[in-house]
Amino acid sequence: MCRPTHFDVTYSINPWMDPSRPTSAQVALGQWKRLHDMFVGLGHDVRLIEPVPGLPDMVFAANGAIVVDGKVLVARFRHAQRVDEAEAYLDWFRRDGWSEVRQAEYVNEGEGDFLYADGQILAGTGFRSDLRAHDEVREFFGRPVVSLTLVDPRWYHLDTALAVLGEGEVMYYPAAFSPQSRAILAERFPDAILAAEADAAVFGLNALSDGRNVILPRQAVGLAAQLRERGYTPVGADLTEMLKAGGSVKCCTLELRAQAG
Ligand code: ARG
Repeated sequence: MCRPTHFDVTYSINPWMDPSRPTSAQVALGQWKRLHDMFVGLGHDVRLIEPVPGLPDMVFAANGAIVVDGKVLVARFRHAQRVDEAEAYLDWFRRDGWSEVRQAEYVNEGEGDFLYADGQILAGTGFRSDLRAHDEVREFFGRPVVSLTLVDPRWYHLDTALAVLGEGEVMYYPAAFSPQSRAILAERFPDAILAAEADAAVFGLNALSDGRNVILPRQAVGLAAQLRERGYTPVGADLTEMLKAGGSVKCCTLELRAQAG
């Protein structure tokens, strides 16, 4: 995770970002801290990367890399405003002693667009990550990659439209995907939880699950009820300040998967 010390909305690279709307790094820090403490309370080992001045979106650590089987593919950002974040992640992983660390060749926004699901990687494209990055990820990790195309700019990263819940279970917002991708999802995940637009619009799908507890924006009340029906424990988090930049729970969190499996 990355503390939102320099959080701000000074440019607009997604429809949620309106630089004329006031933001508060103080409020963002408080909300982020509660999310951080929630992870610690659930028993997770949380590592921090130092925020860099002038990179207000760096709080969205999910975009920094993809980490599977201890291998690290560092992002290559689409927009100039975020390009320099990659260097900070390369540094962090090298210094932390990860042996296989490389920066992606094609535009690749890390776990924003690549979600690990039971041995395979679900990959998003349409707004940010290049389709060629999907092949690069397949080769680098030696894992099957399922390409999915996003079609609505409000859900510009895969992790804004879909969340992995556990063994073969996902939740997603169908209208965010192309008809072909919707068909792929329906076939692979026939029992998926389908989110309503109201829940997707408060970034309810930008959630993190440990297979039992699902941390999601607390405004996503419909989705929380659907999760409870399936036996999950929804845990609400308040990240309204980060939503002004187009991010929430999952965006703030990069998962470090050291082990195969
Ligand atoms: N303002 C950031 C951007 O547009 C938000 C990134 C959100 N991160 C995510 N994993 N969806 O790039």
